[in-house]
Amino acid sequence: MLQGKRIVLGITGGIAAYKGAALCSKLVQAGAEVHVIMTESAAKFVAPLTLQTLSRHPVYLDTFDERDPSVVSHIELADKADLILLAPATANTLAKLAAGLADDMLGATLLAATSPVIAAPAMNVHMYEHPATVANMELLGSRGVRFIDPGTGQLACGYVAKGRLAEPEEIVLAVERYFAAGKLLEGRKVVVTAGGTVERFDPVRYLTNDSSGKMGFAIAEAARDMGAQVTLIAGRVSQPLPGGMKIMRVESAQEMLEAANSVFDDADIVVKAAAVADYRPVVRHASKLKKTGGTLVLELEKTADILAALGERKKGQFLVGFAAETERLDEHAMDKLRRKNCDLIVGNDVSMEGAGFNGDTNAVRIFDRDGLVESLPVMSKRDAGERLLRLVAERIGSKGPKGPIS
Ligand code: CTP
Repeated sequence: MLQGKRIVLGITGGIAAYKGAALCSKLVQAGAEVHVIMTESAAKFVAPLTLQTLSRHPVYLDTFDERDPSVVSHIELADKADLILLAPATANTLAKLAAGLADDMLGATLLAATSPVIAAPAMNVHMYEHPATVANMELLGSRGVRFIDPGTGQLACGYVAKGRLAEPEEIVLAVERYFAAGKLLEGRKVVVTAGGTVERFDPVRYLTNDSSGKMGFAIAEAARDMGAQVTLIAGRVSQPLPGGMKIMRVESAQEMLEAANSVFDDADIVVKAAAVADYRPVVRHASKLKKTGGTLVLELEKTADILAALGERKKGQFLVGFAAETERLDEHAMDKLRRKNCDLIVGNDVSMEGAGFNGDTNAVRIFDRDGLVESLPVMSKRDAGERLLRLVAERIGSKGPKGPIS
C-alpha cells in the first residue's frame, strides 16, 4: 500500500518511543521508504541503531552531523518527504512545532517541510489535557496537521487514562488511508469558486464582503491532493493563491457567473464556496463620485444567482452550495439546497466561535435532499474541505457521470 512513499518518521522522547521501532518496521514492510529522525531524548529510550537496522537508512539526530556535503540534510529530508509522521509526538515536540522552533534536527526539518504532517501524540493524561497542549494541538490542527488520537489504557506513569500512543497497526492504517485519499478524485474535473465579489460604483469605490477565500482554497487544495484536475475561480481574497491548479481571477458577480458558465459543461463537481454579492450598484460611474449633500443614496439591483443558474442547467454535474447563516441554519440551508437544485449544501453558522469568514477553522453541517448528512465539529478548513469531498466522492462513485471511482 505504501510502495514508493517516502516517509520521514520523527520519534520523540517519551517511553512510547519503543513503539516507534515496531511502527518503523511495519511502514517498511508496507513498502514505504522510511527515514528516521530522533530527538536527543528519544535516543535515551531506544537505540538509533535499532531504527537504522529496521529502516535500512541512517538515523538523523544532530542537525550539524552533515554526512553528504552535496546536500543540507534537513532541507533534503523536508523537500523529498511525501509525509512527515511524528510518533510518538510528545507535548514538548508539539509545543515546539506550534511555536516554530528549529533547535534540533526534527524541528528544523518540520519547519522546512511543505509536506503534510500527521502526529500521533503520547503523554501523561494531564499533559494531554493541559490547556497549553490543547491550544497547541488546536493551532497545529488549523495549520493542517492531522492527529491520530491516543488510546486509553495503562500509562507508563501509572495512570489508567487517555494518552497511550495509538497502536502501530492503527497508525499504519491511518497513513494508508491518508495516501489512498490521494486517488479518490482521480480523473475528476472540479471547479471551486472562492472569495468575495467586488461591485464597483466608481473607479475607486466598491461594495464587497469579509470573505477571505480560505474555505474555497482549502477545498480546492484538498481536491487537488485527492487527484482531481482543479479550476479555481477566485474573487477578492486575502490569501496567497494555491498552486497546482488552473486559476481564473474575477471581480464582480457577473464575471464570476461568466467564468463559471465557461467551465461548467466540462466539470464533474462544482463547489460554490464564494460569497457572492446579492446586489450591485445600478450605475457604475466613469469618474470618481463627488461629494454633494449630507446623504448619498446608492441604488442597487440584484445580481444573477450563479448557483441557481448552474443548478438549472446541470446535466450530471455534482453541485455543492454553501449557506452562511446567523440563524435557523438547517431550515435556511435546506431551503437553499432545494431552490438552487444542489446535490449537497454546506451550512455554516457564521455567528459561531471557530466558524465563519476569516478564521482558519470552520464547523459545518452538510445536507442533501433528505436532510442532515454530516455535522462536523470545529476543525481546520482543510480538514472540513477533505471531509466534504470524501462525501462527494462516495456519492459520485455510485451515480456520477463517469461511473465508480476505483
Ligand atoms: N450564490 C451565488 N450567487 C449569488 C448569491 C449566492 O452563486 N448571487 C451562492 C453562494 O456561492 C452560495 C449559495 O449561493 O453557495 C448561498 O449563498 P448565500 O449568500 O448564503 O445565499 P443567498 O442565496 O444569497 O440567500 P440569502 O442572502 O437570502 O441568505
